[in-house]
Amino acid sequence: MAAPASAEAPVRGAMTPVPHRVLSRVQETADTWTLELDPLSEPVQPRAGQFDMLYAFGVGEVPISTSGDHEGGPLTHTIRAVGAVTRALCALEPGAVLGVRGPFGSVWPLGEAAGSDLLVVAGGIGLAPLRPAIRHALARRDDYGAVSVLVGARTPDDLLYVPELERWRSRLDVEVDVTVDSAAAGWHGRVGLVTTLIPGAVVDPAKASAFVCGPEVMMTFVVRALLERDLPLERIWVSLERNMRCAVGHCGHCQLGPTLICRDGPVFPAAAMTRLLEVREL
Ligand SMILES: Cc1cc2nc3c(=O)[nH]c(=O)nc-3n(C[C@H](O)[C@H](O)[C@H](O)COP(=O)(O)OP(=O)(O)OC[C@H]3O[C@@H](n4cnc5c(N)ncnc54)[C@H](O)[C@@H]3O)c2cc1C
Ligand code: FES
Repeated sequence: MAAPASAEAPVRGAMTPVPHRVLSRVQETADTWTLELDPLSEPVQPRAGQFDMLYAFGVGEVPISTSGDHEGGPLTHTIRAVGAVTRALCALEPGAVLGVRGPFGSVWPLGEAAGSDLLVVAGGIGLAPLRPAIRHALARRDDYGAVSVLVGARTPDDLLYVPELERWRSRLDVEVDVTVDSAAAGWHGRVGLVTTLIPGAVVDPAKASAFVCGPEVMMTFVVRALLERDLPLERIWVSLERNMRCAVGHCGHCQLGPTLICRDGPVFPAAAMTRLLEVREL
């Protein structure tokens, strides 16, 4: 007998997590892990810049950006353990199950940036949301002019994706420059804020686009330094974070002035960030 219509598989709503199994768990730094996830039902396929809501059963749900490319591969998220939910997610061993809702939010404008030089500036965990955009540009290298990746971290031990940074660095068609705020003896790289790398970046400001992600104060100074290199404000994009609950524009948790970060962001033109960060939060 045919199943009644009501017994058919339900269409998944934006509030329904898809169970995913942890395939692998790689420790990046003392407090940061990358999880690769395999869907137990239909796949969630975020694009570069978007985020998913990850649900640690019985603990809670948090927004985490995609940090991998999902063209056939597993869902990838890099998570810094800062509180109850992120600690629970980072502790999940291979085989464990968590919930995933998404994808949500805006994307890095890789199409708009095609044809121009590309400057990527990352601070700390900000490299995670930018990694899919860098991978995209390097996989379609002919679509872009000069590509430059500038990375800042607090110390050498806080650098993410060190083997991948080395692989990018060994290519002749991308400039990778890394700096740390402070380092012990034995570090032979640069010491200083990531803004100090901007004057030397190989891009031509007249035809460059810039993607920036990191702490807000870092992004403010990076945007300022880019403007000093005559990069037009309308060719700079940033990614903003706020506490989130629903991720679909209903609860107002992520509201900043007239903007809902979950619905209108997290990737914004830098001009919008300048306006939004002037909004006094209650
Ligand atoms: C769109 C978006 C994308 C994100 N992508 C990532 C990602 O790829 N990887 C990642 O590790 N984190 C990411 N975050 C931040 C992550 O969501 C928070 O760290 C997480 O919600 C903290 O939850 P918790 O319960 O573990 O800690 P809580 O108990 O909520 O917070 C612990 C501490 O962290 C601080 N905190 C909380 N949220 C943030 C935040 N957004 N930024 C800075 N400090 C915060 C709190 O003030 C508190 O001091 C993203 C956030 C947003 C909005
Ligand atoms: S998180 Fe609910 S409106 Fe953005």
